[in-house]
Amino acid sequence: MSVTLPIYLDYNATTPVDERVLNAMLPYFREHFGNAASTGHRFGGIAQHAVSKARSQIARLINARSEEIIFTSGATESDNISLFGVTERYATKGDHVITCVTEHKAILDSAKQLERLGKQVTYLPVDQYGRVDPEAVRRAITPRTVLISIMAANNEIGTLAALKEIGTIAREHDVLFHTDAAQFAGHLPLDVEALNLDLVSISAHKIYGPKGIGALYVRRTDRWVDVAPVIYGGGHEQGIRSGTLNVPAIVGFGVAAELCRVEQEEQATRLRKYTNRILHQLQNAVEGVELNGHPTERLPHNLNVSIKGIKNNHLLPALEDLAISAGSACNTANPNPSHVLRALGFGDERALSSLRISVGRLTTEEEVTYAIETLTKAIKASQLVTCAA
Ligand SMILES: Cc1ncc(COP(=O)(O)O)c(C=O)c1O
Repeated sequence: MSVTLPIYLDYNATTPVDERVLNAMLPYFREHFGNAASTGHRFGGIAQHAVSKARSQIARLINARSEEIIFTSGATESDNISLFGVTERYATKGDHVITCVTEHKAILDSAKQLERLGKQVTYLPVDQYGRVDPEAVRRAITPRTVLISIMAANNEIGTLAALKEIGTIAREHDVLFHTDAAQFAGHLPLDVEALNLDLVSISAHKIYGPKGIGALYVRRTDRWVDVAPVIYGGGHEQGIRSGTLNVPAIVGFGVAAELCRVEQEEQATRLRKYTNRILHQLQNAVEGVELNGHPTERLPHNLNVSIKGIKNNHLLPALEDLAISAGSACNTANPNPSHVLRALGFGDERALSSLRISVGRLTTEEEVTYAIETLTKAIKASQLVTCAA
């Protein structure tokens, strides 16, 4: 069987919209174009009904209730609302936030801004696999701590956080617990009740939905979590996120969440086989391939490796048939080692020789075979050049 080039192996960056998602969205661009807030007529009513359905599909994915789902433009916005909205609302209780050094920039840059606004932020370190020690979370809590924000799965190395343990500690100390689950929700089971989560950021484009739509779960059951808005206006989404709802995108997000809920387990098993196969075959074929991130507590579809003797910004141009990522914010002119790999304790050489390969729903066995062969050839050639130089 032949493969179509280039092969997409960057599902952690974004995913293609599933055909079933697109088909569900299309009528909401055309005949059902109503404003979900214009409930006085049929057009608005149909849109509102579609939004309600999507809300319950997304809630079901994470064992939440519909009224706990706030639509946003994506995980970046959900992260911003969580940090700014909670610290503003709970300012009389305290001014301290706990997060970790390997978070996505949506959290880290928001945290930096909080510091500029006079708040206190603790950035916890991670171990060599990228995990935060739950006991370090406990030790960091002070009477002024209002929020703990620890990502569910890292976008570069796929390492999963000890959410259950951290959630228990947060509850014991009556501190709100937020997780950025952009890479986790839809790929592995996420239960806000079992994990004691108070706020969760989710993004549609990481789960075969459209870009520019996401959600923030805000606990409203046994305790009422209060968040101040970041965007003000017509009071949509319980006043937390004003702005006319993007109905087609929300419909797509709902279907994407539903499909993930149903297909999650089967996909995770299939994709874990692929990432394991790529790792083991690369390790057998070339020297010095090391896994970055946790060996078992990791996203099934993510693989991050460092390869001795290569520089990823030299290797990637030779891999034009494969859409893979350096796994670090780097460009050819100015290679910057990833803050995540640095946090694992790696030096520049290992950090700058990393590749992130992420597979997904459309990845085939043949594509995996092709990718392994192509990578092996390119790495061997690159290692030869480096040795000779
Ligand atoms: C962990 C994590 N958080 C946040 C984001 C941002 O998500 P969005 O593109 O929906 O704003 C991403 C996407 O790259 C991510 O991987």
